[in-house]
Amino acid sequence: FNVLVLNGPNLNMLGKREPEIYGSQTLDNLHTELVSFAATKQVALTCFQSNSESVLIDHIHNAFEKIDFIIINPAAFTHTSIALRDALLAVNIPFIEVHLSNVHAREQFRHHSYLSDKAQGVICGLGTQGYFFALDAAVTALSSFTE
Ligand code: DQA
Repeated sequence: FNVLVLNGPNLNMLGKREPEIYGSQTLDNLHTELVSFAATKQVALTCFQSNSESVLIDHIHNAFEKIDFIIINPAAFTHTSIALRDALLAVNIPFIEVHLSNVHAREQFRHHSYLSDKAQGVICGLGTQGYFFALDAAVTALSSFTE
C-alpha cells in the first residue's frame, strides 16, 4: 500500500514549538520513525510538510490514483481551509485527521474542523503516537478492501 503523511503549517517547528503542548520530538525524527514502522507493515510511506496551503493542495492532487490512504495533520488549516477539504474530496482518497494536542481542550476556534466530517477517523491529544495509530488503522482498512 501507498500511504501519504501530510503535515501543515508550523509543524516544521516541532520540538522547538510550544513543547509543553506539542512535545519535544522533531518532525524529521517522527517522519523517520513512521517510515520504519510503515516498512514493517509492507507500506510505502511518503511524508511531507508545508507551510503553504497551495503546496499541500498540489500534493493532494498529485496523490490522485497513486496513494491509497492519507494521514493528515492540517495544523491551523484545519480550522480555516475549505480548499483543503475540497482537495481531499476531489481525489477521493480516504484519510485520517491527526492532531498532536487535544484541540477540544483548547481555544474555541480549534474546536471546529473543516475536515472531520469527511475523515475516516480523527485522532487528537495523543501526541506523535496518534500518527502510528492512524497508520495502523489505515493498514487495517486497506487490508479489508483487498480481502
Ligand atoms: C494542531 C492543532 C491546531 O489547532 C494547531 O493550529 C496546530 C497543530 C495539533 O497537531 O495539535 O498547528 O493541528
